[in-house]
Amino acid sequence: MSFATIELAREGRVGIIRLNRPQALNALCDQLVAELGSALDDLEADENIGAIILTGSEKAFAAGADIKEMQSRGFVDVLVTDFISKGWERVATCRKPVVAAVAGFALGGGCEMAMMCDIIIAAENAKFGQPEITLGIIPGAGGTQRLTRAIGKAKAMDLVLTGRMMDAAEAERSGLVARIVPAEKLMEEALAVASRIAGFSLPIVLMAKESVNRAFESSLAEGIKFERRLFHAAFATEDQKEGMAAFVEKRKPAFRHR
Ligand code: HXC
Repeated sequence: MSFATIELAREGRVGIIRLNRPQALNALCDQLVAELGSALDDLEADENIGAIILTGSEKAFAAGADIKEMQSRGFVDVLVTDFISKGWERVATCRKPVVAAVAGFALGGGCEMAMMCDIIIAAENAKFGQPEITLGIIPGAGGTQRLTRAIGKAKAMDLVLTGRMMDAAEAERSGLVARIVPAEKLMEEALAVASRIAGFSLPIVLMAKESVNRAFESSLAEGIKFERRLFHAAFATEDQKEGMAAFVEKRKPAFRHR
């Protein structure tokens, strides 16, 4: 399948999606969001893919939803078409791990999209923010919710109410970003992380991701119960036998993935 606003590549068991609208700093127009959704559908269905990288350019991961597309829209229009629900949450619903490799601007919907990913790796020049307030709107793709869970109320209020940006160092200190790397090492690091994940047992990886995500959707007691059920289920897989046998036999495991 060919795309106009993104690029899709495969490297070993890793699928790499690059947002590619340089003329608009990867602003997330309807077409881009739709293409991103179908690329994720492809990679999710591909049994040879174990993890996904979502990235942009050196200048911008994504500078937000496309303001020029939104400018003329009205309440009834966005309500009736349910603006943002379609396609936008596709990253969050992806069951395979998604690593966001962020350089440059990750603003508004761009920051929200990065937060839908599982691990954010930032280049030193990355800038995160929710500038919607400067446009007379509020974040609409999870910004007030995921940012608050990620960095706490104090910082989330600061960013959402002032619209200011935070740099990579502040984002890492705040808990939004997992790792910071020099810009020229961004893809190398993201690929190393994604390849490592993709080398593990896919069913176990899916369980691990689902269980961590359950922490945001449940009480501690419910989450612990959920984790326990999946933990027990892991013992039904061949990969548990292989992983433990490999440890005892002092060799590398050869996971079947399925
Ligand atoms: C449409 C955008 C855009 C956007 C940049 N561009 N961001 N077009 N939507 N979100 C376009 C500019 O209009 C310009 O096009 C070109 O990209 C280069 O941008 P410049 O502004 O010239 O670049 P620079 O001076 O380097 O400034 C970079 C920037 C600035 C600080 C990132 O572009 C900016 O503030 N962008 C908007 C960020 C923002 O407010 N995002 C939140 C959007 S609302 P031309 O044609 O002039 O060359 C949102 C809501 C999500 O995301 C809700 C869920 C859907």
